[in-house]
Amino acid sequence: GNVIFDYSRASGFVSAEEMENMKATVMCARNVLMNKSGAGSDFLGWIDLPVDYDKEEFQRIKMAAEKIQNDSEVLLVIGIGGSYLGARAAIEFLSHSFYNVLPKGKRKTPEIYFVGNSISSKYIQDLKDVLDGKDFSVNIISKSGTTTEPAIAFRVFKDMLIEKYGREEANKRIYATTDKARGALKNLADEEGYESFVVPDDVGGRFSVLTAVGLLPIAVSGADIDKLMEGAEAARKEALEADFETNGSLQYAAVRNILLRKGKTVEIVANYEPSLHYVSEWWKQLFGESEGKDQRGIFPAAVDLTTDLHSMGQFIQDGARIMFETVLNVEASPAEILLKEEEVDTDGMNYLAGKSVDFVNKSAMNGTILAHTDGDVPNLMVGIPKQDEYSLGQLFYFFEYACGISGYILGVNPFNQPGVESYKKNMFALLGKPGYEKEREELLKRL
Ligand code: PA5
Repeated sequence: GNVIFDYSRASGFVSAEEMENMKATVMCARNVLMNKSGAGSDFLGWIDLPVDYDKEEFQRIKMAAEKIQNDSEVLLVIGIGGSYLGARAAIEFLSHSFYNVLPKGKRKTPEIYFVGNSISSKYIQDLKDVLDGKDFSVNIISKSGTTTEPAIAFRVFKDMLIEKYGREEANKRIYATTDKARGALKNLADEEGYESFVVPDDVGGRFSVLTAVGLLPIAVSGADIDKLMEGAEAARKEALEADFETNGSLQYAAVRNILLRKGKTVEIVANYEPSLHYVSEWWKQLFGESEGKDQRGIFPAAVDLTTDLHSMGQFIQDGARIMFETVLNVEASPAEILLKEEEVDTDGMNYLAGKSVDFVNKSAMNGTILAHTDGDVPNLMVGIPKQDEYSLGQLFYFFEYACGISGYILGVNPFNQPGVESYKKNMFALLGKPGYEKEREELLKRL
């Protein structure tokens, strides 16, 4: 099955004529993207990744994953933003919901923890407790090699490795994913002899899940990275070759821009499976960092349902009418749990006897879509056939392509992120980093 984009339930908000009118703009954006004639065109390496990747490195990723599986009870994945969210999204989407705490024998691959995605001392301290007495390895992922959050975590856990194993063995347990030629981490990796993997120059962080950035941790979890790439390749084929009328990525880009022009400035991605939480986080970064600039863009938000129907549901149904909703629908649940009849029907649930929990979930979803539509929230759907590697590869590519197109329709450079630098400048100044003395004085006056 294929990942499908369906906007039929939003027909009351997006007419066939509007889609037809938007088509020329979409096709123009596609030409700009494919001819590499638009803004940010140095960062289009992701377009061909599913068919044009470093096969030798791909094998090395698999071998490194195997080594980690054999000699480590825990893998720490250190990275932030685009060097973090894709791997986490994939691992949570593909793995057992309680992967890290499954008893021995039920999980054959290492526990995986993410760190370096905040600056919390408590989190680092608590993670050190988890590692106590366990064999572990570290995958440090940073394209620049100088990002504060991962650099701090790396210092702490590198020390812990050296203390436990000595420098030489520690170096064999550190895997560095970074720029191929430049940067602090690359230099360190060369000096210490860490096995290193490449973040290609022409692939930005949020588009890097199908490089070693995502692939190494995903492979360590036991997931099939060949299938992931195959899925992405299938989606790439549709995105690049299919006509507008049958091209989900192009249609999604069109619909969201039509809705934006009607004042729908917030897009809420809604999932009905907890294991999609980080897919939504990945999606938020992809669209937020790509489109939110020049005082423009759709604010990307996410809810986990039905959980958040008991909190944010009120606002979506009834609050300010500023949003549309995109449902991520996993069509076939991998688990079937049937409800039983009880002798005394105290909770009034006996009418569901013989029905599956997934049937209840899907009914909740369908009911919610109609209610939100009636509440003037246009509802779009992305159908995901299965929670497997092939579907996920498709989903990643589907959104990446749509994001490139959508950003060009919006008129921004979807491939830069100038806005993420401002807080860093202030933080460096306040920390007393050499070279920031003047800024520091100014800021201290304001605090
Ligand atoms: O998309 C981006 O560029 C950012 O989210 C980066 O991925 C993030 O800041 C991490 O950067 P780096 O990999 O250089 O440590």
